[in-house]
Amino acid sequence: MKICCIGAGYVGGPTMAMIAKKCHDIDVAVVDLNEARIAAWNSDCLPIYEPGLQEIVEDRRGKNLTFSTEVKSHIKLADIIFISVGTPTKNYGIGAGQAPELGYIEGCARMIAEACDGPKIVIEKSTVPVRTAELVKSVFEGYEKGHLFEILSNPEFLAEGTAITDLENPDRVLIGGDSTESGKKAVQTVVDVYNRWVPREKIVTTNVWSSELSKLVANAFLAQRVSSINAISAVCEASGADVEEVANAIGMDSRIGPKFLKSSVGFGGSCFQKDILNLVYLSGHFGLPEVAEYWNQVITMNEYQRKRFSRKVIHSLFNTLQGKRIAVLGFAFKKDTNDTRESAAIYICRDLLEEGADIVVYDPQVPAAEIKQLTNESVKIASSAEEAAKDAHAVLVLTEWDEFKDLDYSAIYQSMVKPAHIFDGRNILDLPKLESIGFNASGVGKP
Ligand code: NAD
Ligand code: UGA
Repeated sequence: MKICCIGAGYVGGPTMAMIAKKCHDIDVAVVDLNEARIAAWNSDCLPIYEPGLQEIVEDRRGKNLTFSTEVKSHIKLADIIFISVGTPTKNYGIGAGQAPELGYIEGCARMIAEACDGPKIVIEKSTVPVRTAELVKSVFEGYEKGHLFEILSNPEFLAEGTAITDLENPDRVLIGGDSTESGKKAVQTVVDVYNRWVPREKIVTTNVWSSELSKLVANAFLAQRVSSINAISAVCEASGADVEEVANAIGMDSRIGPKFLKSSVGFGGSCFQKDILNLVYLSGHFGLPEVAEYWNQVITMNEYQRKRFSRKVIHSLFNTLQGKRIAVLGFAFKKDTNDTRESAAIYICRDLLEEGADIVVYDPQVPAAEIKQLTNESVKIASSAEEAAKDAHAVLVLTEWDEFKDLDYSAIYQSMVKPAHIFDGRNILDLPKLESIGFNASGVGKP
């Protein structure tokens, strides 16, 4: 069997590496038009940082895992084609700022139709609006090749930073397909691939529309939990309650559960906001404005949380940041990834720059050039947390990298301008200990 995945990104790369690891008899080709990205996948310096990924790629590359820019020839050879290209929020025309850009999906459908003359299973791995399979099908029909392709939906639920463990041991694998005989046969083929390592009871099969929609709904529910606990963090700060104690108390209710209740500077990442906007747009499109408004509030609350954090910093530093050095620790949208897409750090840095702050950023994985580009070249980059904090008025922890927990905060305090402030936007630090060193220390939702 041959599998080809179009799109060598955060999803295509790791998911195909896992299939190659678990199925040595399947040839897996990951193809992309981006030559630099493919060259990086073929080098010692992979284009994405993900714990455990490098080992798998090094083990399978050149055996049953290939990275290539020869898109059409690999598509033509494959039995199963995954489409794993980006579906970012559209920034022009109808639906600008809400609807997803489906141009890359359409482009893939056209390439597949042009390259193939035999039967294929085509799988939507990208996150797409419900009924996108219809679009793909009508492209195939336009080439009079509709009969060749069985279109399935198999959305991906991995989270960055834990992609390899999520792929190795997923909560579930979701496969949506048609209830026709050929649809069922295609679903079974893909079930058999995952079933090499995922127990059958964790492989859920549905119709295509349920599968497409479930992906958007899963992300909307997860983001909603973060916005809910962040809303409560504001109530905690106003009332003297502690958001971690509240999260613990409610999370022990088995109906609520303990996960995804960590208050923060706001969620980031390429997908939560994009996928909720997608759901908001779809709801509007289906004539359900109340539903659209309901989900839009999750984003409004996230924007509020970021602004609230910026305002707290500005207010604590006597409402003026002119010429003051501010150390920002962490720029990735979460720990264990080099991904900065929609990271709260971008927005908070922009707020503080507007106030005239002199920002110095340290992140263990994000390239300096990327941080500079995202802040219009207005920040400096440090090569350690200590270097960033030296002569600073405040330290801001914006990503929960483990190394920030164990820094020598006494030495950092000594090197800073007094009064020295520390704002823990991830609640990973021991605030009473920092206070005892001399810091003005504050967290999110903490008394
Ligand atoms: P990405 O931007 O990292 O990668 C997409 C790749 O597709 C790019 O390298 C681009 O060059 C390539 N591409 C676009 N059009 C192409 C074409 N016609 N031919 C060949 N290559 C083409 O995106 P990603 O983060 O991997 O996300 C992909 C999809 O998966 C999105 O729909 C996203 O919502 C979804 N998703 C992402 C995550 C995540 O953690 N990032 C998790 C689950 C689902
Ligand atoms: C998320 C989902 O968890 C994945 O299931 C999904 O596949 C993926 O989106 C996607 O579709 O792209 P990801 O964005 O990689 O994964 O990371 P998460 O762990 O979900 O974190 C998202 C953001 O929420 C991060 O900024 C994180 O710091 C924040 N967060 C998360 C909190 O602030 N508090 C929490 O309790 C959890």
